[in-house]
Amino acid sequence: MAPMPLASSSSKLCSLLILCLAFLAAVDRSTAGIFDEIELIWGASRTYFFMDGDSEALALSLDQSQGSCFRSREKYLYVQIDVEIKLIEGDSAGTVCTIYTISEGPWEIHDEIDLEFLGNVTGEPYTLHTNIFANGVGGREQQFRLWFDPTADYHTYSIVWNPKRILILVDGKAIRDFKNNEDQGVPFPTWQSMRTFGSLWSAEDWATQGGRVKTDWKQAPFVTYYRNYNVTWCRPSPGVAWCGDEPKDSTRFDLDANTLSDLQWVRSNSMIYNYCDDSVRFNATTLPKECTLQ
Ligand SMILES: *[C@@H]1O[C@H](CO)[C@@H](O)[C@H](O)[C@H]1NC(C)=O
Ligand SMILES: *[C@@H]1O[C@H](CO)[C@@H](O)[C@H](O)[C@H]1NC(C)=O
Ligand SMILES: *[C@@H]1O[C@H](CO)[C@@H](O)[C@H](O)[C@H]1NC(C)=O
Repeated sequence: MAPMPLASSSSKLCSLLILCLAFLAAVDRSTAGIFDEIELIWGASRTYFFMDGDSEALALSLDQSQGSCFRSREKYLYVQIDVEIKLIEGDSAGTVCTIYTISEGPWEIHDEIDLEFLGNVTGEPYTLHTNIFANGVGGREQQFRLWFDPTADYHTYSIVWNPKRILILVDGKAIRDFKNNEDQGVPFPTWQSMRTFGSLWSAEDWATQGGRVKTDWKQAPFVTYYRNYNVTWCRPSPGVAWCGDEPKDSTRFDLDANTLSDLQWVRSNSMIYNYCDDSVRFNATTLPKECTLQ
């Protein structure tokens, strides 16, 4: 099923009302779980699917020879992805666990929405590193210190991508908002569909405390758990064929007061790096345009 022209092609396909209703119900929220939605890309011999209570779960693991990686079978154009992740307990220095979406076209123009969890030595906090690439250009790093121990239990991490903005949420709390400012000349992902990827790998040369702390391979294999992978397709307004055709003046994807106050709270309590505030890296003439727009 090609997600891009989903609704517009579905309106042509669904000549019978009953078929159409069944089809739309099926695509609105994917009912398939992680077993069906995900395929392993590398390190398959180190990973395993299992039932965690009622939930379909996947364990990725890493040892000194290799990590592991999965991807979604489907590609999406405007979507909400939620997944619960439980990170490596104890000494996770040098490891990186990810959940991200990325387009498949040429690297020079690719789009990408990244969450990377940078491990740490026992007792020291993980860093959640985020980045957004649009039309091949990234460099939009923001980093966060989570307000809970992400190794003690599962927590829900979400990527919301609609025509107006990209939101990253942790346990339903918005931590990052990247607005579509295309009309101001800031690239935004609008036409390349993306797949979800998740991986566990070693980046001991830079990941932990700037690379000063290396991975303790005696602790291997390292394991992270993913469960309850949810895909929710973007729902267009009534009378609109698909989300990408949402009228310019639509307020559907505007932020509500709760989301705005969550973003404010996260900015003061959890954010540890914001590229827009990096005056060593950027000055008034080189500051990315979106930094002055939102
Ligand atoms: C996935 O969707 C189901 C059904 O709406 C919901 O109960 C569950 O909390 C969601 N899981 C995550 C990880 O968001
Ligand atoms: C690891 O812990 C140190 C000390 O608390 C902290 O400075 C660093 O940001 C943490 N995270 C990473 C990824 O190094
Ligand atoms: C700002 O950065 C640019 C490029 O690095 C440099 O050419 C310029 O001199 C800098 N301006 C100031 C005011 O620091």
